[in-house]
Amino acid sequence: MKGLVLSGGKGTRLYPITYTSAKQLVPVANKPVLFRVIEAIHDAGIDDIGIVVGDTAPEIKEAVGDGSRWDVHITYIQQDAPLGLAHAVKVSRDFLGDDRFVMFLGDNVIQGGIANLIRQFEHSEWNSQIVLTRVEHPEQYGVAELRDGRIERLVEKPRQPRSNLALVGIYMFDHHIWEAVDNIAPSWRGELEITDAIQYLVDHQYQVYPYVHEGWWIDTGAPGDMLDANRLVLDELEPYVEGYVDRDSQLSGKVTIEAGAEIINSVIRGPAIIGRDARIVNSYVGPFTAIYHHTIVDCSEIEHSIVLEHTKILHIDQRIEDSLIGRNVEITRSPLKPRAYKMMLGDNSKVGLITNGR
Ligand code: TTP
Repeated sequence: MKGLVLSGGKGTRLYPITYTSAKQLVPVANKPVLFRVIEAIHDAGIDDIGIVVGDTAPEIKEAVGDGSRWDVHITYIQQDAPLGLAHAVKVSRDFLGDDRFVMFLGDNVIQGGIANLIRQFEHSEWNSQIVLTRVEHPEQYGVAELRDGRIERLVEKPRQPRSNLALVGIYMFDHHIWEAVDNIAPSWRGELEITDAIQYLVDHQYQVYPYVHEGWWIDTGAPGDMLDANRLVLDELEPYVEGYVDRDSQLSGKVTIEAGAEIINSVIRGPAIIGRDARIVNSYVGPFTAIYHHTIVDCSEIEHSIVLEHTKILHIDQRIEDSLIGRNVEITRSPLKPRAYKMMLGDNSKVGLITNGR
C-alpha cells in the first residue's frame, strides 16, 4: 500500500499564522502536525508516501526533506490550485498507479495511529474504506449513513442528520477511485469533493465499508481545534527533562523540557512542553501549554496556549490563556510615555484585552 498526505489548501481559518507558513507545520505539543501524520503512516508499515503540496511547497519540502528521517520515501506532488480533496487525488495518479492507498489529511491528528485500520483494508477485497467517528453535532460535519454494515450515503452538514457518524480525514481506496474522480463535477464551491467521489463508488455498486474510530480525532483547521489537539497530545506524552532546571524552579505533573532549554526560578505545571533552547525565567507556565524552540518567557504567566518559535513574552502581568501565538512575536511592556497599547498586528490578528482590570 501507498500513503497520500494532503498538504496543499489555503488554511484561511488559521490566518494570520498561515499567511506566512503552512498550517500543517504548526506544531502540536512541539511537533508539526504533518510530522505526526507521516509517523502514523510509517507506524502502519507504509514507507512510500506522496505529499500533495500547493503554495507552501518550498516550506514543506524544506521541513520534511526526502523522508529519510522517518525511514520513508517521500514524493512531492504539486497541485496548482486547491481545487478540492478529490482533485488532489486526481493529480496524484502517476504516483499512486494501481496500488491501494490510504489518504490522510495533513492537518488531522488521530489518537492511537492507523495501523489497525490499514491492516483491515489491506487484507480485504473492499474497494474503499472510510474512517468515521461518532460526533455530538453531526450537522456540522460530512456524515455517513450505513446500511447492512456498508456505507450507503454521504451527506455534507445535514440539517436533520440520520446518523452521528462523521467522516474523519482518513480514507482508503483501490484503483476504482480513478473512475470516480473522472466522473464527478465540481460542487457549488468549485471543488472536486471527495464525498462525491465516494458516493459515486457507492452508487456504482463498489464495496465501500466504514471503519469506526473509537479514540479522539481532531481536524486542526481552526485555532480552538489546535489548542484541543495540543491538550490531548500533551496529556499522552511521556515526559522527559533534557534541559536545565535550576534549584529555585518547580516542575509538577507531566512536564517535558527539551535539550538546551533553561528554566530559571519558574513554576511549570504539566502537561506542558518547553522546546529546545527556550528560556523560562521568573515565570509560570501552566497546564496544556507548548512553548516551541528559542522562545523566551520572562516575568510572565501563560497557560493553555501554543507559542511558536523565536517569540518573546516579557513582563506581562496578566496571565495569558487560550492563545495561539506565532513566530518571532514580541509581547512586551513599554516604559515610554504616554501609557498606551502599542501594537503592530498583521491582518486578521485577534487580541483580547482585559477591561477595568478584570
Ligand atoms: P481544508 O481544511 O478543507 O481546506 P484548507 O486547507 O484550504 O483550509 P481553510 O478551510 O482554513 O481555508 O483541507 C484539508 C486538508 O487538505 C489540508 O491539509 C489541506 C489539504 N488540501 C489539499 O491538499 N488540496 C486541496 O485542494 C484542499 C481543498 C485541501
